[in-house]
Amino acid sequence: MKSSLGIIGMGVMGTNLARNFGRNKYAISIYNRHVPNKEENVALNKQRTYDELDHAQAFDDLNLFIASVERPRKIILMVNAGTTIDIVLENLSSLLAPGDVIVDGGNSHFEDTQRRMDTLKKKEIFFIGAGISGGEEGALKGPSIMPSGEEEAYALIAQHLEAIAAKDNRGNPCCTYVGAQGSGHFVKMIHNGIEYAEMQLLAECYAVLKAQQLSNEAMALIFESWLPDTQSYLLEITIQILRKKEQDVYILDTILDKAENKGTGKWSSQTIADNGIPSTMIPAALFARYLSFFKEKRIEISQLYSTQEANISLSNEELKAAYQLGRIINHHQGFLIIKEVAQQKNWKVSLSKVAQIWTEGCIIKSSLMQELVALLNTEDSLLESNRLKGQIKATYPSLKKLVVQGIENEIHLPCFSEAINYFNGIKTAYSSANLIQAQRDFFGAHTYKKINDPDGKRHHTVW
Ligand code: 6PG
Repeated sequence: MKSSLGIIGMGVMGTNLARNFGRNKYAISIYNRHVPNKEENVALNKQRTYDELDHAQAFDDLNLFIASVERPRKIILMVNAGTTIDIVLENLSSLLAPGDVIVDGGNSHFEDTQRRMDTLKKKEIFFIGAGISGGEEGALKGPSIMPSGEEEAYALIAQHLEAIAAKDNRGNPCCTYVGAQGSGHFVKMIHNGIEYAEMQLLAECYAVLKAQQLSNEAMALIFESWLPDTQSYLLEITIQILRKKEQDVYILDTILDKAENKGTGKWSSQTIADNGIPSTMIPAALFARYLSFFKEKRIEISQLYSTQEANISLSNEELKAAYQLGRIINHHQGFLIIKEVAQQKNWKVSLSKVAQIWTEGCIIKSSLMQELVALLNTEDSLLESNRLKGQIKATYPSLKKLVVQGIENEIHLPCFSEAINYFNGIKTAYSSANLIQAQRDFFGAHTYKKINDPDGKRHHTVW
C-alpha cells in the first residue's frame, strides 16, 4: 500500500502535522534523517508513540520513503527554514519525478520560496510555499495554512491541506490558495509581523498596569473583562500567562525581560522599508524587542536617570479603547503591506480570504479578524471604512490619553505611540514634508515640485 503523502522532518511541528493527517485518516509516510548517536529511528519512535500514526509508514532512508508515496507524490517539508531546505531539496529533487509536488511548511522567506520554485520548475517538480500558523497545538488540532504557487500544483494538495486545517465559524477550512509565486510565505511573514505588534500592544498594556502596582490577578481580571467585545487568542493566552504559578510564584515574574525573535518580524520590517510602505507598528514592535535585549545597558542607564513614581489616571475602559484602536491601526497597516506588495507583484491576493484563513488556527485569530472578512470583501482600508469609523472616532481620545499618560509617567510605549503618530500623520492633509523638500533642495539641489501643478515640473531655488 502506497501512502497518499509524505512528511519530512519529525520535529514537533512535523510530528503534530503527521498526527493531524493520521487523525484525518490519511495514509502517510513519515521521514526523519539518520544522524548516528543523535537522530536515530526518530520517525519510527514517533510512529510507535502516537496512536494517530498507527498506520503511518516510518523511514530514515530517503529512497525508501520516496518510493512509499503514490504518484504524483506529495511531500511536505517540515524542516528548519534556511539552508537546510536547500540541502533537502537538492537530495529530494533527484528522487522525484515530473508532476510531483513539494510543500514547504516552514517559515521560509518568500524570495527563497520563489527561487526554489523556479529551480524545481526546470525539473517539472511543483513547489508550494505554505505558511503554517498555530504553533504546536495548531499543527495537531488544525492550523491556519497559507499556500501559494502554481494553481495546478495547489489542486493536487488542496484536499489534503484543507482537511487538516482549522475550520472557521462556518465550517470552511482556514486554508486557501493565497496567490502566485511566494505569496503564501509572504502572507505568513506579515501574519507574524502583525503578531509582533499585537503582542507588543499587550505588553505595553501590561507595562501601564504594572506601573500602577496591580497584582497579576488584578491585571488578568482587567484583560478578562475585555474579552466579550475584544476577543483574541493572544489576549486569552496573556490572561492565562498572568495567572500561571509554579510553587506559589507567578512564572511571569521570574522570566528574564529580553524578548527574542526568529526573524520574521525583521523580514517584515525590511519588506516594509524596501517597498516604501508606512506600516510603522511592526518595526516599532521589532525594535522594542531589540531594545529589551540591551538588558545590561538598561540597568546601567536606569541608574543614571531615576524614574518618577507613576501617577496614572486611566480607566479600564480607556485602556481597552486605546488597545482596540491600536489593534485596528495595526491590522490596517498589516493588510496595507499585503495589498501594496501583492498588487505590485501581480499575485492576485484576496485580502478577505486572507482574513478568513486567519479567523481560526493561527496566532492572530480574533473577533476583529472575523469582522475583517466581510469588510475586506468590499473595501481595502480599515481606516477609511464606514464600518469602523464610529469606533475609531470613539476610541481615539483614549489612545491619545494613554500615550500622553505613558510619556508623563515615563513608560515605554513604542507601539501605541507609533499607532497614534501614524494615525495623526495619515489624517494630515498638508504635512511638513514641504520643508524636507526645501532642505533637500537647499543642500543638494535635489529639486522640488510645486503644489497644484498637474505637470509636476521640477524646480530648484538658489536658497
Ligand atoms: C505561528 C507563529 C510561529 C512562531 C514564530 C515566532 O504563526 O504559529 O508565528 O511561526 O511562533 O516564528 O516568531 P518569533 O520567534 O520571531 O517571535
